[in-house]
Amino acid sequence: MRWLGTSFKMTKTRAEAAAYAARLREAVGDGLEGVCPFVIPSATAIATVTDALGGRDSPVLVGAQNTHWADEGAWTGEISVPQAADAGARIIEIGHSERRAHFGESDATVRLKTRAVLRHGLAPLVCVGESEETRAAGGGTDAVLAQAAAALDGLQNPTDVLIAYEPVWAIGEHGRAPRPEEIAPVLAELSDLPVKGVLYGGSVSEGNAAELLRLPGVDGLFVGRAAWDAEAYVRLLATVARHARAVA
Ligand code: PGA
Repeated sequence: MRWLGTSFKMTKTRAEAAAYAARLREAVGDGLEGVCPFVIPSATAIATVTDALGGRDSPVLVGAQNTHWADEGAWTGEISVPQAADAGARIIEIGHSERRAHFGESDATVRLKTRAVLRHGLAPLVCVGESEETRAAGGGTDAVLAQAAAALDGLQNPTDVLIAYEPVWAIGEHGRAPRPEEIAPVLAELSDLPVKGVLYGGSVSEGNAAELLRLPGVDGLFVGRAAWDAEAYVRLLATVARHARAVA
C-alpha cells in the first residue's frame, strides 16, 4: 500500500475544508488501487470533512492532528480518541515536531497516545525526526530510531502503526527539501521496523514527490503546504498512484 496524506495544521474553516474534501471525493471515486489517501484537518473540521467525503466508509481516511491518551476526563482543551473517532477520524497523528517543540510532547506522551489510539482500533501516525543540530553532531539516525522505539516499546501490534519520518530541518516555511542521500540512511533503518508503513514528510512538493517515493523504505508521503490546495493534492495523488502501479 502507498500512502498520501496531508495535515492542514491550523488552517481552513469548515467551509474551506468541506470544499477541499468534496474535490477529493470526486477525484478518488471508489478508491485508487494500491493507494490510501488521508486528510487530517483541524479538530473543528473532522466531522465536516468526514461528511463531505461521503461518510466513514470513504476511501479517503480522515484523521486528527493530536489526541489525549485518556478516554475522557478533566483535561481542558484536549480531545480523546473516542471523541475523534466519533467525529469520523480513523487515523491519528502523534508527536509532530511542532507539538514536540511547542506543546511539550515527549517520547513518553507519544507512547501513551500511540497505545490509546491502538486500543480503540484507529491507526496511529507517529512522527519522528531529528533536529539540524543533532544531525550535524552525527546523531540523526540514532535520535530518530530512539523516538520510534519509544513509541513502539512493548506494543503487541506494532504492525498497525504508521511512522512518518519528518526531519525537523525539512519541515515548514523555514525548512529545506532534503537531498535523497541525506534521508536514505534513516529511511533504510526505519524500513526494518515491523510497522504498517513508513512515510516521508518535510518540504514534499510536486517537484520532488516522485523522487522521494522511489527511495527504498518509503511507503508514502505526508505533505503540508504543498497539498493545502485541493488541486495540488489531486496532482500529488496521481503521482502516488502512478508509483503504486509501477511497483505493483
Ligand atoms: P511541509 O510540512 O510539507 O509544509 O514541510 C510537513 C509536515 O509538517 O508534516
